[in-house]
Amino acid sequence: MFEYAPAPESREIVDIKPSYGLFIGGEWVDSQGDTHHKTINPASEEVLAEVAWATEADVDRAVQAARTAFTTWSALPGSERAKYIFRIARIIQERSRELAILETLDNGKPIRESRDVDLPLVAAHFFYYAGWADKLGYAGFGPDPRPLGVAGQVIPWNFPLLMLAWKIAPALACGNTVVLKPAETTPLTALAFADICRQADLPPGVVNIVTGAGETGAALVNHPGVDKVAFTGSTEVGRMIARSVAGTGKKLSLELGGKAANIVFEDAALDQAVEGIVNGIFFNQGHVCCAGSRLLVQESVADEVLDALKRRLSTLRLGDPMDKNTDIGAINSAAQLAKIRELAEAGVNEGAERWSPACPIPERGFWFPPTVFTGVAQSHRIAREEIFGPVLSVLTFRTPAEAVEKANNTPYGLSAGIWTEKGSRILWMADRLRAGVVWANTFNRFDPTSPFGGYKESGYGREGGRHGLEAYLAV
Ligand code: NAI
Ligand code: MG
Repeated sequence: MFEYAPAPESREIVDIKPSYGLFIGGEWVDSQGDTHHKTINPASEEVLAEVAWATEADVDRAVQAARTAFTTWSALPGSERAKYIFRIARIIQERSRELAILETLDNGKPIRESRDVDLPLVAAHFFYYAGWADKLGYAGFGPDPRPLGVAGQVIPWNFPLLMLAWKIAPALACGNTVVLKPAETTPLTALAFADICRQADLPPGVVNIVTGAGETGAALVNHPGVDKVAFTGSTEVGRMIARSVAGTGKKLSLELGGKAANIVFEDAALDQAVEGIVNGIFFNQGHVCCAGSRLLVQESVADEVLDALKRRLSTLRLGDPMDKNTDIGAINSAAQLAKIRELAEAGVNEGAERWSPACPIPERGFWFPPTVFTGVAQSHRIAREEIFGPVLSVLTFRTPAEAVEKANNTPYGLSAGIWTEKGSRILWMADRLRAGVVWANTFNRFDPTSPFGGYKESGYGREGGRHGLEAYLAV
């Protein structure tokens, strides 16, 4: 074995201010309240900056700014809106190193992922929807589909800038204006995006960013001046939002949790499948709504797959997210770490067998080693509940029908994976899996041209692709 030399990314090109206000009407403004919140680096617990927690009055101001801007923004020809969105996409590319570093500092994800996955996808999303702005009449929603008005958008902490892109790019392309609230633990890239809007000369009020926690989010989704609500986050909060929006006439899209099955058949290329299993659940510390958190492996190859998986996991490097060789970064918050620990303990108490590779854990910050549970029963909490951490539950099956039955035995339905050599089996399985996205011989692969969304408690509405336009048009 070779020793790795440290390969730290430098944070010198990132300029983090000690404190941030709100971005409303194209200006930085102070909150009318006096509550502030420190955002930290979860890998070191170092305070990065202080951000305002927007009050109801602040949210009202942001919605008014978006309302005012809507009149002119929605009246622009699509080709003019496209110019702004293309400009934003290019600035994101130009500033991608800075944004990747900022994301890694605030979120705890490995720099390799924010640099090679998050940022390229963020730019691709803006490029893709910029291209739709002048072609909406050909999208299948009538010759002249109209925007909805002001979109109130609430996003989570697992892919902060990517979720912002998924929300803002289609909204602007369709002619809406937005008020976006980032998650309380990861506001910094959204605030950097506000700066990018200014750099792109986006008309004031088209994009407004209000920081804060659940109360700010609730004030936004409940504001009567909001015409469209888009939420990504927990099923629990999604349910509350669905209840409060019901009967108001606001259009709603929800992207909630998941408990995806990653299904490996005996005829699959097993080495490749093992890479897919690792990518499925250990990418982004497992903080992925579509993570392949349940491995369903055919009984005849279960031992072979598990041996190979454990060998592979023993080579993963956990530690400083800013090191370019790091595979597993920090857990995003103390609260999320507590939740993962609680569920992992429930797994042991319910009788599953827990395994982790030997893995030194840094002293400061929030960490959880890659963990595999075998001997998992369908009734175990670790087989049913979203853990949202680097924890894999392994179940076995004998026949394709049993695999389908077990995969669908969940209240969620966001994604699934199939590993087999047979094309006919892929199609047979994909037809029967109740999941919005089904990957075949790959996992966690994203593309702005492809719609993404769930069935059942995973939510409704689609983001990405032509389908993603519908959420922001009056159709
Ligand atoms: P959360 O659902 O509370 O947070 C997501 C966003 O919603 C944040 O911006 C938050 O400030 C906002 N929010 C919270 N309460 C709100 C309310 N009443 N009205 C409007 N907005 C509100 O999720 P949290 O607490 O960060 O994580 C809890 C669990 O949720 C995780 O352990 C994970 O299982 C799941 N989760 C799933 C995500 C997904 O992408 N599917 C993303 C984040 C969390
Ligand atoms: Mg943070």
